[in-house]
Amino acid sequence: MATLIEPKVEPLTEAVGAVIEGIDIGAPIAAETIAFIRATLVERGVVFFRRQDVTIEQMWDFIAHFGTPWKDDSFGADDNRPEDVQIMDSVSTRYGTSIWHTDSSFLAEPPKFTILRAVELPRVGGDTCWASMTAAYDALPEPVKAMLEGLSAVHTIDVPMERLDDYGEEFGAAFRAIHAPHQVHPVISINPETGRKTIYVTESCTSRIIGLPALISRHILAMLFEHIKAPDFNLRWRWSPGDVAVWDNRTVQHYAVPDYATSRVMQRIVVKGERPRRP
Ligand SMILES: [Fe+2]
Repeated sequence: MATLIEPKVEPLTEAVGAVIEGIDIGAPIAAETIAFIRATLVERGVVFFRRQDVTIEQMWDFIAHFGTPWKDDSFGADDNRPEDVQIMDSVSTRYGTSIWHTDSSFLAEPPKFTILRAVELPRVGGDTCWASMTAAYDALPEPVKAMLEGLSAVHTIDVPMERLDDYGEEFGAAFRAIHAPHQVHPVISINPETGRKTIYVTESCTSRIIGLPALISRHILAMLFEHIKAPDFNLRWRWSPGDVAVWDNRTVQHYAVPDYATSRVMQRIVVKGERPRRP
């Protein structure tokens, strides 16, 4: 029987993030409490639950309250069960995600939410940063907003794969065998659950803005990539074992700090998403 409890929410910065206390994500949770968590998640962009001692099945069941769980956003159509979720040591791939990105924007329908749980951590290092693309959008001057609205950009897996050398080559080839080489998404998108506009280009995957000369496109993207990095819009989370983060890929970008050389083991599941929408 699910118990109805009033969770406590502690915002982390003005722009982004909140810790939700008083929830055991492995236990049955009342529908009202799920609705409360979802509202907090889409409003804050990323939420954290501390000290969650759960199995991958419990984590899967928890995230299933928010949509269709997916063990991996790029592959894995045939074996999509909790037992298929791989436990990932990111020590060898840490330079692939140490760049601001939203998960898998190179897909036609990038995942809506991602859930990540810390299992084994380096003694120090391996933090993750999240930044609100809503706050970053709101901070743009009106003439710049007007210039960007209506534009579309190309998202490709090539850039992150280049950062991974041989492994990237291999992964990229497997990816391209089943997916289109790139996708086109709006530069300014909207989160349909909040109705708020967001910047939807990333240093990780966006290669060019369509319809602009290459030089102009490159400089506009560089301006946006620089703009979103301001500490005004972001937070940095120092993981403890058992910490769980859930984020809304339509609203935030994240950056995994690669300042470690020993194991950093995490469990990750995504929730199926839709094509990013134009306002
Ligand atoms: Fe990521």
